[in-house]
Amino acid sequence: MLNIAVLVGSLRKESINKRYAHALEKLAEGRLAFDYVNMDLPLYNEDLWAEPPAKVLLLKEKIAAADGVLIVSPEYNRSMPAVTKNALDGGSRPYGQNVWADKPVALTGASPGSQGTAVMQSQVRSTLVILGMRVLGAPEVYISFKPDLLSDDDTVANEGTAKFLTGFLDAFTHWIKPGMA
Ligand code: FNR
Repeated sequence: MLNIAVLVGSLRKESINKRYAHALEKLAEGRLAFDYVNMDLPLYNEDLWAEPPAKVLLLKEKIAAADGVLIVSPEYNRSMPAVTKNALDGGSRPYGQNVWADKPVALTGASPGSQGTAVMQSQVRSTLVILGMRVLGAPEVYISFKPDLLSDDDTVANEGTAKFLTGFLDAFTHWIKPGMA
């Protein structure tokens, strides 16, 4: 079983990205253990390191202990939400203590719009590269979220979509540990 730190870039209770992450978790059952990181962090400020916030230290601990990182993020104004960027910034510092370096990472996201977070993902990829992460290149997964995508218990309703997402999780598993999927 691989330990995956999951970053959901929305704090909203009814977040579709949270629901989508839960659906991925179900599809990954038995091989990927999802550990959701608390993303409700103080806004990044270099002065915080004088007395580091417990939530940021916890994020760094979880990432350090993880075999891989999964980012499930909304797109805000054709970019990543502050929640996602704030977590990436917090984990990258203090200078020289970037916790993201060398971590395998996969990225996806859901939006009610037709482009399904594609623009956000292309931007986030460049940030992940500069952080020294090992970014899964393919498949790209852009979810245009429609009400019938998930059942009430956040299971992927459509067989073809479930198969496609399982393929994404297979690729991520293989990216972390070749031969495991
Ligand atoms: C959005 N939304 C949005 N959607 C999109 O596809 N592209 C975009 O650029 C934006 N921009 C944007 C900006 C802001 C400030 C908000 C609040 C929303 C819509 C967004 O996809 C929708 O609200 C999702 O439901 C947000 O994800 P969660 O919170 O449900 O996971």
